[in-house]
Amino acid sequence: IHCALGGTVAEPKVVNATEPMLLNAVRGLEVERPPVWLMRQAGSYQIICEKHPSFRERSENVDLVVEISLQPWKVFKPDGVILFSDILTPLAGMNIPFDIVKGKGPIIFNPLSTAVDVDQVREFVPEESVPYVGEALTILRKEVNNEAAVLGFVGAPFTLASYVVEGGSSKHFTKIKGLAFSQPKKWEEASNSFTFPSSNPISKHSFKEFPLVKGVLHALLQKFATSMAKYIQYQADSGAQVVQIFDSWATELSPVDFEEFSLPYLKQIVDSVKQTHPNLPLILYASGSGGLLERLPLTGVDVVSLDWTVDMAEGRRRLGPDVAVQGNVDPGVLFGSKEFITSRIKDTVRKAGKGKHILNLGHGIIVGTPEENVAHFFEVAKGIRY
Ligand code: CP3
Repeated sequence: IHCALGGTVAEPKVVNATEPMLLNAVRGLEVERPPVWLMRQAGSYQIICEKHPSFRERSENVDLVVEISLQPWKVFKPDGVILFSDILTPLAGMNIPFDIVKGKGPIIFNPLSTAVDVDQVREFVPEESVPYVGEALTILRKEVNNEAAVLGFVGAPFTLASYVVEGGSSKHFTKIKGLAFSQPKKWEEASNSFTFPSSNPISKHSFKEFPLVKGVLHALLQKFATSMAKYIQYQADSGAQVVQIFDSWATELSPVDFEEFSLPYLKQIVDSVKQTHPNLPLILYASGSGGLLERLPLTGVDVVSLDWTVDMAEGRRRLGPDVAVQGNVDPGVLFGSKEFITSRIKDTVRKAGKGKHILNLGHGIIVGTPEENVAHFFEVAKGIRY
C-alpha cells in the first residue's frame, strides 16, 4: 500500500522488537503494518452472558473478566487486548450505586441533584474498590505475553458526570446542561470563586437548598478527574500498557463549552499521569468529534481515536503530526460484503499514512455483526504491509 496522502508523518525511527507492535506504532517507531484491535469483539461473549446474566458480576469477578477479555485474543489474535469492564465500574466505589441492565443500559439509582449529593461522592481508591481490575490486568499481561498490548480504560469526567446527573443514558443531556448553563444570583453572592461545600464557610445546610449549579458541576468533574488519574495509574501499575480515555459524550458540548467542562479535566488527567508514567501512551476517544478535532491534541494525549464521520486523511491533517491516530472504519461496514470490507480497510490505511496509526473501527462492534466478517477484517488487516 502506498501512502499517497500520508505525507505529514515524520520518518519512523528504529523499532523495538521486544515491545508489542501497538506501542511501537504509537511512538512513531518503524512497524510493517498498522496494529489492529477492535472493541466488543468477542463472539462467544453471549454464552457467558447467558450463564452470568448480571453485567456487574461478569465485570467484577476476576476469572470472568480474564476469560471475557481473552475471548477475542484467542479467536482473532488482535494487536491489542482490552480489559473487559465498563467506564461506570468505579462508581460503586465512589458511593454512586449503579447497574447496567440489558436493553436499558446504565442506571444510576440516585442521580445526583444537589451540592450535598456531590459532597458525598467519595474519591476513588482503586486498590480498595476494584482490586479485581488490577488482578485481571496482571493476569492478562502475563497471558498475552507482549504478543499484543494490554489496554486499560477509563471514562472521562464529563462523560461520567453526564451518567450520574442524568441517571443513565440521555438524548438531550438537559439535566447536566441545566447545571452547566446556570449560575443563580444567590450562588454568585455566596461565592465568587467556588469552594466545595464542606470546606465553605457557608454551612452544608444552606447548600441543601441549592440545586446543583455550575460550580458544583465543576466540583463533581474535579472529583472524577482526580479519581480517574489515580485509576489510570493503578491500571498501568497492574499491567496495562496503554490506557484509553472515553469521553463519549463530550461531543454533545459546543466547542466553547467543551473548553470549560471537558478539556481542562482531560488535560489535568493527562498531566498527572504523565508525571508518574511518562511512557504510558494515552488514547482519547470521543464519538462525533469532528467539530472538536483541533482541540483534542491540546489534552496532551498520544493518540486520538476517530469515528467514521471524519475522513481519515482530513482528520490526520487537522490533528497535526504529533499525535497518532486510531480508527476509523464504520462499524456498519462489517455488515457489507467481504470485498467492500477489504476496500475500506485499505482506504483507511492509505489515508492514515505510514506509521502512527492503530487500525480500528470508529466505535465498538455492533451486536449482530457477522463473526466471519470480523475474522475477515483481521485477516485483511494483518496482511497489510506498508
Ligand atoms: O471490548 C470490550 O468489551 C471492552 C469493554 C467495554 C465495555 N464498555 C463493556 C460493555 C468498554 C471499553 C466500554 C466502554 C463504555 N461503556 C463506554 C465508552 C465507549 C462508548 O461506547 O462510547 C460507555 C459510554 C459505556 C457505558 C455503557 N455500558 C453503555 C452506554 C452500555 C450499554 C450499551 C449497549 O450496547 O447496550 C454499557 C454496557 C456494556 N458495557 C456492554 C458491554 C459489552 C453491553 C451490554 C452487556 O454486555 O451486557
